[in-house]
Amino acid sequence: MPVDFKSSETKDNLMRAFAGESQARNRYTFAAGQAKAQGQPTIAQVFLYTADQEKEHGEIFYNHLKEMAGETIHIDGGYPVDITEDLAELLRMAQHNEYEEHDDVYKRFGDKAKEEGFDKVARSFHMIAEIEKTHGDRFGRFAEWLEENKLYISDVKTGWICLNCGYICETKEAPKKCPVCDHDQGYFIRLELAPFADKSNK
Ligand SMILES: [Fe+2]
Ligand SMILES: [Fe+2]
Repeated sequence: MPVDFKSSETKDNLMRAFAGESQARNRYTFAAGQAKAQGQPTIAQVFLYTADQEKEHGEIFYNHLKEMAGETIHIDGGYPVDITEDLAELLRMAQHNEYEEHDDVYKRFGDKAKEEGFDKVARSFHMIAEIEKTHGDRFGRFAEWLEENKLYISDVKTGWICLNCGYICETKEAPKKCPVCDHDQGYFIRLELAPFADKSNK
């Protein structure tokens, strides 16, 4: 049944989502700082890349609140305290939160928005839920490689790209040092996971 936006649950859910995205963005930015400090610049980039996308999600949810301009929305909500020195654990925590948004929270918010007659908002929740799944998968993959010491070692020959200078090679293990820019192994990422990598001729 259509509901007036100002008295809807959807406007609260949008604010909850905006708060959640804002916090995720900050948590990932903090995590990136930790990764960098621990000599894992590629993992730092994974966190920053995702942080930027959370900012966009936040903006999308926030902009759906235009009708509430000038007002304050009071919400309750639970938000995680993901503090640990262990990078693999940080990645696992991030994975867990992303899956929670995908499996439960945004689907529920989307269904509610649909029920209340806010189709555009419902679409945002449902589509962003799918993106969060890919975020969770990516964090999980990096966590696994880190846990198994396979971040820079593959079972089969694979493409690697240096995120500092763009040098590409195909080997089982990423170079200990980039032969072009001298940056260490921590700057390498599997080519298939590098944003903007041209995979067309691979
Ligand atoms: Fe998000
Ligand atoms: Fe996400």
